[in-house]
Amino acid sequence: MSAPDIAVERLGADYFQDPYSVHARLRARSPVTRVIMPGGIPVWLVTGYAEARAALADPRLSKRMPGWHPEPDSIIASMDLHMLNTDPPDHGRLRRLVNKAFTARQVARLRPRITAITAGLLDEMAVQGAQRGQSEVDLLASFAFPLPITVICELLGVPAGDRDDFRTWSATIVSDTPAPGVFQAHATAMARYFMALLAAKRQQPRDDLLSALLAARDDEDRLSENELVSMAFLLLVAGHETTVNLIASGVLALLLNPAELARLRADPALTGSAVEELLRYVNPVSNATFRCAAEPVEIGGVRIGRGDPVLVSLSGANRDPARFGDPDRLDLSRDSSGQLAFGHGIHYCLGAPLARLEAGIAISGLLARFGSISLAVPAASLRWRPSTLIHGLEALPVRLAPSEGGISGP
Ligand code: HEM
Repeated sequence: MSAPDIAVERLGADYFQDPYSVHARLRARSPVTRVIMPGGIPVWLVTGYAEARAALADPRLSKRMPGWHPEPDSIIASMDLHMLNTDPPDHGRLRRLVNKAFTARQVARLRPRITAITAGLLDEMAVQGAQRGQSEVDLLASFAFPLPITVICELLGVPAGDRDDFRTWSATIVSDTPAPGVFQAHATAMARYFMALLAAKRQQPRDDLLSALLAARDDEDRLSENELVSMAFLLLVAGHETTVNLIASGVLALLLNPAELARLRADPALTGSAVEELLRYVNPVSNATFRCAAEPVEIGGVRIGRGDPVLVSLSGANRDPARFGDPDRLDLSRDSSGQLAFGHGIHYCLGAPLARLEAGIAISGLLARFGSISLAVPAASLRWRPSTLIHGLEALPVRLAPSEGGISGP
């Protein structure tokens, strides 16, 4: 069956501020609909849970998109050959090279360091508040961003002091609305940065993941130079653009649902299941990366033509009432297993164990340290970043007051 004969809807910039109501409206029409994204790209948008899962596992939906990749000899092309942009067999080869560093067991060894970084950031926020005689901070800039970026920089061996540069470049790369020329300039700056960093590490290897990957490349020639730069780029961007939103949007969701917040404060053992429900509810990655039908595919009764771009909406799937009852309600005690925030299939998030660990430590540490946390601005004034892929706040101004009995946790 082909798509129902309806006008293709053009989504406006308001989509970024509230993707959920748009997905609900589209899903009610059909779980797979043709839309034009706010950036002007026409896609098949998959908003039903069963259809999203099927699409993510379908090998006919390819990550190599004809006409979408940079010119092969451009500088930007050096960041294009990463696992999230490749199909088997290259995908498996690239993923296996780093898989070991991100298993749940390996990541659990980072717990003490993540706890120490979290404690340091909580101290700084408490001191800032005390010094300024007021306790208002941007939780995103002071806490949710520095934690994951510091962790991934340390793992990779990237100087954390350069983080403001990558935050700017990376924000441009995932934005739908960079000013003309800015995308090119920032993507080029990022590629040059990694090339210089890898050249320096080749001279002076350290005990870090990028040095290990260089050794894999130089000893066994298993990674081309562009694959190496692309790997560094992907791990750094995926390692921080996402977890920052789980922490910041997760805290916002708790502040807007005080009964759930009280429940978590009363029983910190709920943290693991709370993180799962927050993943389902806040969707740090709103839509999976673009895919393209390598041959005609039928999903949800809709025929997708060869070469058509497909966008699988993870936030659409996670709020599908056919899968999660009363989906727009945050319920920390619900069984959120099967949520698709980390994707599904061969590209399932490599960093899921790390993200879960960081978010659990961050949220439980924040609640233990500050007995009172409240929004410092009306919720309606909060703005979401203009990105098709990422669903994240621009800023999260909050007021913090220490827990009774002074400092505690994490
Ligand atoms: C809450 C935090 C995170 C969320 C919600 C998230 C979400 C996702 C999603 C949805 C995908 C699949 C995209 C697709 O199929 O188009 C993905 C892939 C990936 N993620 Fe994450 N991610 C998170 C944190 C991390 C972290 C901390 C890392 C660490 C390096 C990471 C590394 C990756 C990599 C390398 C891939 C590509 C896997 C592949 O292509 O096989 N992610 N992530």
